[in-house]
Amino acid sequence: MKPLEELTLETRAILGLQLPTDPRWVDLAEKSLEDILTDHAYCEQKAATSCISLIQRYNQKEKLVNELAPIVTEEWGHFRLVLAELQKRGLKLGRQRKDEYVNGLNEFCQKGGSEEGRLLDQLLMMAMIEARSCERFKRLSDGLNDQYMKKFYRRFMESEAGHYTLFIELAETYINKEKVRKRWNQWLEHETEIMRKLETRGDRMH
Ligand SMILES: [Fe+2]
Ligand SMILES: [Fe+2]
Repeated sequence: MKPLEELTLETRAILGLQLPTDPRWVDLAEKSLEDILTDHAYCEQKAATSCISLIQRYNQKEKLVNELAPIVTEEWGHFRLVLAELQKRGLKLGRQRKDEYVNGLNEFCQKGGSEEGRLLDQLLMMAMIEARSCERFKRLSDGLNDQYMKKFYRRFMESEAGHYTLFIELAETYINKEKVRKRWNQWLEHETEIMRKLETRGDRMH
């Protein structure tokens, strides 16, 4: 998995999120560490469980199974890192909140129709979450004052950049590249609408 800086221009361009995070978000997040770490912990947990679901659903797609199996371990490792960070600071893992961002993305997923279309949307939704998370981690890594936390988030940023490209590559393994590109652009537009509607809150990763 490559760090963001080493990605090809084409890959970076496809990352292409249309709406950068509101710069005030980093200041808000800095003031609500327990909440933001709790929310982050659940994001990692959901990333692991989503990969498990994909493996169960697409058991016959060998490349998908083989590529996602280690990601489950990695995402779970991320969850444990965040949990350890909370505990080290005497903070508590709070309750899981309603994830409006992910719910909004989920609404855009093709539910019926061809299997190909459904697979494509599931992979692109995962890529979308990874891409936005990567952007958010970059904001934290660049914008926080605390040197330790800057490095802490940088590690996640690099990892999620690798995941984002993996999900796009998986989509291109099973589906025509043109179709993938076209649908990705629609996802980018949909994600921009969600981001516009969501309130900027320091206790949310998204
Ligand atoms: Fe992760
Ligand atoms: Fe990830």
